[in-house]
Amino acid sequence: MIVTTKELFKHAYGRYAIGAYNINNLEQTMGLFQGNLDSRAPFIVQISKGARSYTHKKMLEALIRTADEIFPDAIFAVHLDHGDEVTCYDCIQSGFYSSVMIDASAEPFEKNIEITRRVVEAAHARGVVVEAELGKLGGVEEHVSVKESDAKLTDPDQAKEFVERTGCDSLACAIGTSHGAYKFTGSQGLHFEVLEEIQKRLPGFPLVMHGSSSVPADEVARINAAGGKLKGAKGVDENEFARAAKLGVTKVNIDTDGRLVWCRVHRESFRDNPENFDLRPPGKIFMKEYAKFIAHKNEKLGSACQLDAVRALIQRR
Ligand code: G3H
Ligand code: 13P
Ligand code: ZN
Repeated sequence: MIVTTKELFKHAYGRYAIGAYNINNLEQTMGLFQGNLDSRAPFIVQISKGARSYTHKKMLEALIRTADEIFPDAIFAVHLDHGDEVTCYDCIQSGFYSSVMIDASAEPFEKNIEITRRVVEAAHARGVVVEAELGKLGGVEEHVSVKESDAKLTDPDQAKEFVERTGCDSLACAIGTSHGAYKFTGSQGLHFEVLEEIQKRLPGFPLVMHGSSSVPADEVARINAAGGKLKGAKGVDENEFARAAKLGVTKVNIDTDGRLVWCRVHRESFRDNPENFDLRPPGKIFMKEYAKFIAHKNEKLGSACQLDAVRALIQRR
């Protein structure tokens, strides 16, 4: 069942965070739904601009619709990740996405407000909810690369003004994380003091943490032992999710970790079976491993075992 993130956040706020997982293909879709049902968790499927153009924008939509039929118990939101204005309007008009992210965080404050406000108006008119972003995360997204030195933490006073003036439904904050597999050069972690200040100014308002992959050292070691060359990869401590959730983080974005599972499974599979050229043996292992990975993340996020309570809440609406 597709719901808006608003409904999911209402149940989660202050207690746990919902996992927002990016998909690009069939195997990720199957593993994602299986893992969330195995751990009885509500979740968010997110689709980036790059994912929409990987095959055709309709392809992932069709996969999700079919997964919804195969797993009728699933409760999830369908979300556009890091959208620009044009892509947001396309997703809003499609009638399929229940949530869009407008990412105008690279623009100056006033311009970010102006663009976000326009998207909020168009989205709300169609019952779609909007995530916006303020501050600048480091790291690499498909078209943008931000050096660690150019990253900018979210200013709590600006966050309050931004939410009031845009009418957005949730806010992605820069609190020290970055996209990709190389998050921290030193021992920096999350800036909980910034999160606390934002929550003080916006009590009850759902916050979002991007760049939240953990980049597990054992996963990286296995990839490298099977021919990979990932040097100095480092991520967010997944044991910090619970503290962030108490401070208003209701959505945690995870993409890189899933790619690492894919990379490890395929490297090991072809290394160990050099005579194999069939895509299905590693594909089958990946779907199982990805489901296991999702279930584990949901335990850490606290969303595991919340599915039935969320269903009860939705049925009462
Ligand atoms: O934040 C970026 C996400 O990991 C999506 O990555 O733009 O390469 O699909 P992508
Ligand atoms: P990671 O690169 O840490 O997985 O972050 C994903 C993300 O923020 C998607 O929007
Ligand atoms: Zn992101």
